[in-house]
Amino acid sequence: MISRPFLDRIRADTRQMHLRVETCLDLEGSCATVDGYRKLLARMLAFHAPLEERLSHLDWAGTGVDFESRRKARLLRADLAALGAPSEGLPRAALPQLRSLAAGFGCLYVVEGSTLGGKIILRHVERALGLDAARGASFFASYRADVGPMWRAFGEAATAYCSTGPRVDEAVAAAIDTFEAFERGIGTAPGEPRPTVESA
Ligand code: HEM
Repeated sequence: MISRPFLDRIRADTRQMHLRVETCLDLEGSCATVDGYRKLLARMLAFHAPLEERLSHLDWAGTGVDFESRRKARLLRADLAALGAPSEGLPRAALPQLRSLAAGFGCLYVVEGSTLGGKIILRHVERALGLDAARGASFFASYRADVGPMWRAFGEAATAYCSTGPRVDEAVAAAIDTFEAFERGIGTAPGEPRPTVESA
């Protein structure tokens, strides 16, 4: 675990949210069948694809974040394709507003941090469904052997940028918004009506 003032604060302020998203993900239930897992992937894509687009419009130049190398929605598309499920025409999840780069860092903290838990999810999916990083579970494998280095690099860039009180506050608020958006989007049971699309 990296310990830096910014990361310590954002981790502490979002700890409860993390527990909530772990619960709403319902790993056991979602991965009980391949069909349930497909539905989970579809909900994840409906959240990650538009969020990634929104994040990509921020100006990461000079921050130490190579945003292009952190795109992961394509992995969800590949996993859905490997399982014979469509990845087009999915409803978009409601998203957090990202009005500043500091907010972008807070949002990206949630997305990048989830690659750490992804390693645990990957092991569960491998055991429960016999899928792996090469077939159906590449999203949860994310950066594969580079999960640790990618997380540390993100932590350094976020710590450098979020070095003032106002930036830290904006980032923390955006991280909370992002966790809440995830909870709303992913926590919807398959077949239930989904939240409507956010304003741009
Ligand atoms: C069953 C699902 C999940 C499990 C078991 C899980 C587990 C974990 C674990 C063990 C860590 C800490 C890793 C470490 O310190 O080395 C972690 C970190 C993190 N996870 Fe999750 N996670 C899950 C889902 C999620 C989801 C869905 C999100 C986001 C929407 C998320 C966001 C984060 C973040 C932001 C961190 C970084 C915390 C920090 O500052 O150190 N996790 N997760």
